[in-house]
Amino acid sequence: MPKPSVAPAATGITSILNESRVFKPSKDFAERAHIKSLAAYKKLYAESIKDPEKFWGRLANQELVWFTPFKKVLQWKEPVAKWFVGGRTNVAVNCLDRWLDTPIANKAALIWEGEPASDGRPGEERILTYKQLHREVCRFANVLKRHGVGKGDRVLIYLPLVPEAAIAMLACARIGAVHSVVFGGFSAQSVADRIADCGAKLVVTADGGYRRGAIVQLKKNVDDALNLRDAQGKALAASATAVIVLRRCYNDIHMQEGRDFWWHRELEYVTADCPPAKLESEAPLFILYTSGSTGKPKGIFHTTAGYLLGTKLTSRYVFDLKPEDVYWCTADVGWVTGHSYLVYGPLANGATSLMYEGAPNWPEPDRFWRIVEKFGVTILYTAPTAIRAFMKWGDEWPKKHNLRSLRLLGSVGEPINPEAWMWYHEVIGGGRCPIVDTWWQTETGAIMISPLPGVTPLKPGSATLPFFGIQPEVVDEQGVEVPRNAGGKLIIRKPWPSMLRGVWGDPERFKQTYWTEVPHTYFTGDGCRQDQDGYFWIVGRIDDVLNVAGHRIGTAEVESALVSHPSVAEAAVVGRPDELKGQALVAFVTLKSGIHAKPELRDELRQHVAKEIGPVAKPDDIRFAEGLPKTRSGKIMRRLLKQVAAGVEVKGDTTTLEDFNVLTRLAQASE
Ligand code: WTA
Repeated sequence: MPKPSVAPAATGITSILNESRVFKPSKDFAERAHIKSLAAYKKLYAESIKDPEKFWGRLANQELVWFTPFKKVLQWKEPVAKWFVGGRTNVAVNCLDRWLDTPIANKAALIWEGEPASDGRPGEERILTYKQLHREVCRFANVLKRHGVGKGDRVLIYLPLVPEAAIAMLACARIGAVHSVVFGGFSAQSVADRIADCGAKLVVTADGGYRRGAIVQLKKNVDDALNLRDAQGKALAASATAVIVLRRCYNDIHMQEGRDFWWHRELEYVTADCPPAKLESEAPLFILYTSGSTGKPKGIFHTTAGYLLGTKLTSRYVFDLKPEDVYWCTADVGWVTGHSYLVYGPLANGATSLMYEGAPNWPEPDRFWRIVEKFGVTILYTAPTAIRAFMKWGDEWPKKHNLRSLRLLGSVGEPINPEAWMWYHEVIGGGRCPIVDTWWQTETGAIMISPLPGVTPLKPGSATLPFFGIQPEVVDEQGVEVPRNAGGKLIIRKPWPSMLRGVWGDPERFKQTYWTEVPHTYFTGDGCRQDQDGYFWIVGRIDDVLNVAGHRIGTAEVESALVSHPSVAEAAVVGRPDELKGQALVAFVTLKSGIHAKPELRDELRQHVAKEIGPVAKPDDIRFAEGLPKTRSGKIMRRLLKQVAAGVEVKGDTTTLEDFNVLTRLAQASE
């Protein structure tokens, strides 16, 4: 049995997971893998850490297509990194054009499976070869150009998971425009805020998207977003003057003359000839908004060459991508995983990437396994929250299908609990597939800590060891490395090519959020422990960000949405452990005087949050309270609320609590 291996840490972060099972890689897998042994990994890793610039410089020359070679590998002026300075390249060329004169040209770049109809009829299916995808990207790039979009202009993409999402992203990359993809589960308000923040000139959307047989009104949300006004009556999203609309659901929508244009109509005016822009290595590629510990989402931005190199190499080595693989990453393009491992990483390797539009249990809980069988998927990359849902739905669903094609499984987004790991390994992987538990973030651009399949002995629940060139460390409050098995903050010591270059329009926030917690290093926001073998075990976020079903939700954002409702006086949002979602959102709400805590109000508040942020941020639980536990200086004591939310006895220091009775009442209210 596992023996306790917990040491208290100076940071107060303790890791209580004791897992001692080790799964050695099979000889068979190792023999065929890109990297064949732990010794080979260690040697290359040591080399990459000894002289990172030499290492990355060599790979950038070898892996990327350059119009102009770079002169300097890294120019580092904390906290801003410039990689491959002086070089010029283009992401779309690296993902598409480079394959055109090779046998890969006629290989499937994207296999797309649409959501099945609500009456159970199978979904549509589309396959785009590299040549076809190249053509569609060039045509759409010309559409963008016709609408005056050029180098450096921002384009907001708000689409369902259809091939056109990848086409629009690559079209932006081709002409040097900066895309910002917004997940279809966000509201009109969120769309407007993002357009306003990045000053997007054009919006790409669809009439609607399918979700469990219903239609998500994407175009209607864009209309609402463009009509929203700020307190002074000024249009919030005034920068966006054109909307390109993809026809997907044939639902009734309003098209505004002179502003809205059908995608298919626009294609009639353009050719498929679109020379790529020769972009500097540091030209911004995309902005992706993510929750932070304050109210406003941050526009994390990534640039061209470094991001491409990071996603390309990690795709190849972590997923052991081979020409014959059918690789399926189940993430939506609205998240960073969809950017790096559905689109850019796989295409930069000339791989076949599968995308599925719908939900895992629609129309039945075997949807994923049906797809694996249908296309002979060999690599499956998904999230622990999905794995836990599959466990709950029962083994009979995967057992109905032949999953023998699978050879490698991946996990991302949150810590995977060992029980879910074991189920994934046995029921889905038939005991033969290695699992790569990949730790990374929107900010890191690419996978940072992960096993290499065939190489790294696996421990269920651990992301194991760092990728080449990456130096993670677990440190205490002073930034000093803690002993093995002690908990601490996870930091990254040195810059790496795919790292974020900043927070769009807010260099100060970039510095404050990531570079001040521990001086001169990048702070991840995660708690972590390194075990006696140097394996990293992520404990979870230590800032006020929650990980709900693999989505990052800032508690402050949900709080401000709640407080913007006329009945609410104050709100505090905390997480409680949830069997399926990892964490669930619990909101403690005090109402303005004279307002009664009617049960209907709960629903109204949940709808209000959905309207303000999007359905992804709806609290699972709303508890009305007369008061919130506060320190004498007025700070809400979230630590205590977390315990109340989790239904455990409130422990720890309560001496700074201003009114102890509040706590007793809260605990009673939740019983
Ligand atoms: C968490 C998703 C444990 C972590 C790629 C991180 C993980 C946040 C793992 C980033 C993992 C991601 N094990 N925790 N394998 N992968 N996380 O920006 O807390 O949506 O900081 O990027 O997810 O979430 P993001």
